[in-house]
Amino acid sequence: MTTTHQPPSEHASERVPKAADVNRIDHVVAVLSGKGGVGKSIVSSLLAVSLRRKGYRVGILDADITGPSIPKMFLPSGIQLGNDPLGIPPAVSRTGIKLMSINLLLRSESDAVVWRGPLIGRAIQQFWTDVVWGELDYLIVDLPPGTSDASLTVMQFLPLSGVLLVTSPQGLAGMVVHKAAQMAEMLHVPLLGLIENMSYFVCPDSGKSYEIFGPSHAAELAQALGIPFLARLPIQPELTVLSDTGRIEDYLAKEFAPIVEQIEKAAQAPRLPPFSIDLGGL
Ligand SMILES: Nc1ncnc2c1ncn2[C@@H]1O[C@H](COP(=O)(O)OP(=O)(O)O)[C@@H](O)[C@H]1O
Ligand SMILES: [Mg+2]
Repeated sequence: MTTTHQPPSEHASERVPKAADVNRIDHVVAVLSGKGGVGKSIVSSLLAVSLRRKGYRVGILDADITGPSIPKMFLPSGIQLGNDPLGIPPAVSRTGIKLMSINLLLRSESDAVVWRGPLIGRAIQQFWTDVVWGELDYLIVDLPPGTSDASLTVMQFLPLSGVLLVTSPQGLAGMVVHKAAQMAEMLHVPLLGLIENMSYFVCPDSGKSYEIFGPSHAAELAQALGIPFLARLPIQPELTVLSDTGRIEDYLAKEFAPIVEQIEKAAQAPRLPPFSIDLGGL
């Protein structure tokens, strides 16, 4: 009897290196609201810009798969990602912020993503495991509205240092933010604080301040949730223009100093490893 014997290949046992082998991400912070249009993406972006200005290495993971808005705020349209043998290379903004969003992977930025929850969850997991983030001090995760699959995946799968809650003065926003806060608590993710966006508008002619969307209830909401009330952000037409034209890094957000301070404080706190629990149908 003859047998053909193949000598073991020299490379057979060699593992192909992956993004996870080079990624070192120190702290992950998610921006959550529950409600759409309150400014989660603006807050995520300005937080990343503020951290970057302090010299930190920063990335943004756009977890809003069906309504991604991060590339539009940072990049000229039509940007092409490069190639990386380790995984998916992120786009890099003008000041060096690493960005990943489903919009960077679509043929056209206006293509719709019509996916069911599990697929959305898998895309977010892939953004965490397969993107070549490299070494980052902070990864900011911009969540979609609601307490559904995407937020659940982020809170269960990513080792979060905590979440920042965003609200606006409209009564409905406060109610929905309460639900989002409850979700974070159920999943044992620390709530780092509350930010109220679109709180007021300062008339450039008179210098007078107007509460366009009504009086603020954010202080009471923060107190009810037992979390710090970190900032009130004004309505700034300049911000709308800069964020719509890929130039958000030109905006100086002085109101972000206490938010950055809170993030730095949370970064010093010991973290628990991520875990899964049975959510009883959540
Ligand atoms: N403080 C603000 N001043 C001016 N425009 C704002 C402000 N906050 C948000 N916007 C604008 O409102 C829209 C919705 O904000 P966005 O951050 O995308 O909300 P979300 O991510 O919660 O859906 C964007 O077009 C953004 O430019
Ligand atoms: Mg958004």
